[in-house]
Amino acid sequence: MARQKTKTRKTKTDPNAMWGGRYSLGPAAIMERINASIDFDRRLYAQDIQGSMAHADMLVAQGILTAKDGRDIRRGLRQIRAEIEGGKFKFSTRLEDIHFNVEARLTALIGPAGGRLHTARSRNDQVALDVRLWARDAIDRLDAMLQDLQAALIDRAEEYAATIMPGFTHLQTAQPITFGHHLLAYVEMVGRDRGRLGDCRARMNESPLGAAALAGSPHPIDPRKTAKALGFDRPMANSLDAVSDRDYVVEFLAAASLCAVHLSRLAEEIVIWCSAPFRFIALSDAFTTGSSIMPQKRNPDAAELVRGKVGRIVGAFVALCTIMKGLPLTYGKDMQEDKEPLFDATDALELCVAAMAGMMRDLEANPERMRAVAAADYSVATDLADWLVRELGLPFRQAHHVTGTLVARAAAKGVDLDKLSLGEMQAVEPRITRAVYRVLTVEASVAARRSLGGTAPANVARAVKEARRRFLGRGR
Ligand code: ARG
Repeated sequence: MARQKTKTRKTKTDPNAMWGGRYSLGPAAIMERINASIDFDRRLYAQDIQGSMAHADMLVAQGILTAKDGRDIRRGLRQIRAEIEGGKFKFSTRLEDIHFNVEARLTALIGPAGGRLHTARSRNDQVALDVRLWARDAIDRLDAMLQDLQAALIDRAEEYAATIMPGFTHLQTAQPITFGHHLLAYVEMVGRDRGRLGDCRARMNESPLGAAALAGSPHPIDPRKTAKALGFDRPMANSLDAVSDRDYVVEFLAAASLCAVHLSRLAEEIVIWCSAPFRFIALSDAFTTGSSIMPQKRNPDAAELVRGKVGRIVGAFVALCTIMKGLPLTYGKDMQEDKEPLFDATDALELCVAAMAGMMRDLEANPERMRAVAAADYSVATDLADWLVRELGLPFRQAHHVTGTLVARAAAKGVDLDKLSLGEMQAVEPRITRAVYRVLTVEASVAARRSLGGTAPANVARAVKEARRRFLGRGR
């Protein structure tokens, strides 16, 4: 196999303007390519500018920079933000990353004051700050989106509070439940996801600024000022930890992974419920796609993609753990690899949450079909056993046995339990009375399950109100 020739340019370029003082040669082309992060870390521009403004203000307040420098820096940074948002900014790979791109442009705009902005700061605390701010923003966005998903689930749970469906264990018919109760289970799961993201946010909310390269700064800086200005609870206590910590990315991705796992379970249920053998729900044209060959098809692609995207989100979590594993303190360039998984997982999760909220609002249940399936396969057998316990005082184990025998007899005749005659029942347990038939309907079965957290329609109606209060902060 012919060996590909890699270009290893050595002499054609000048040293890097930002750090090339001791250099006489520019980087090899491949060095520039592996080193540069600007293609992806440009997404941090707003956080980078926000952090630089807070840093400049602090430098001015501490008498390290003049007020005029501070004003020029702010003006220049505002212009850079406008240029980036207007698509006019020229990003340069030679300048490696967002930090150098912004600083170089700032100096071009305002002169030497641009170079003074980096006093008492390193890209190490700068990037730690930018990623932290970005992740914090992502958490806040996701929290609002997850709350919206909860709102959609709660609304549909209210609508379907008394709609009977089969509850499954092992995906085999177990006992009748209500569709509203099923949807509220996801409201709880999403509530824990929001809680985990909130925990992560609370723990990450410390500012790394002031750590500089790793050891802190000899300038009379005030890290408390920058921390406060940027909405952090406090500065980080240890400068080495400040520049080398990426726990918040790992924690965020762990919380995102579990959230994605939850969404994938609901997505899988949607796929199952939509399928022809089930027909429990239907999604409209808005959330399905057709087949290029089979004209009758309506495929639940959005649900399938929510189910599938969990792969890249969990992958991002594994990537971060693997990047950080074994890294000696403090900063290592390895950590530049944190951004793409973080951005990709966040984008994917936001899409999944929004698509799921859309599907929840879009779906229409088929109550007749759900009830028919719920009533089949002896789903009220437990109700019969419970009746034997309650009314005849049988030990549950014996009631289970009696019921099992009755199920076998009904199955042999090919009928439901309530189609066995009283005589046939009494042949197995002589003390059974006609009253037993009252518990052998799916309606009676769900209505009876009023224990705390149970599926009874009355419970669901109450749980809907509670969920609105707990998660949406409204109504009683
Ligand atoms: N682009 C770098 C990153 O994303 C910024 C920090 C670089 N620091 C350094 N000392 N080379 O991690």
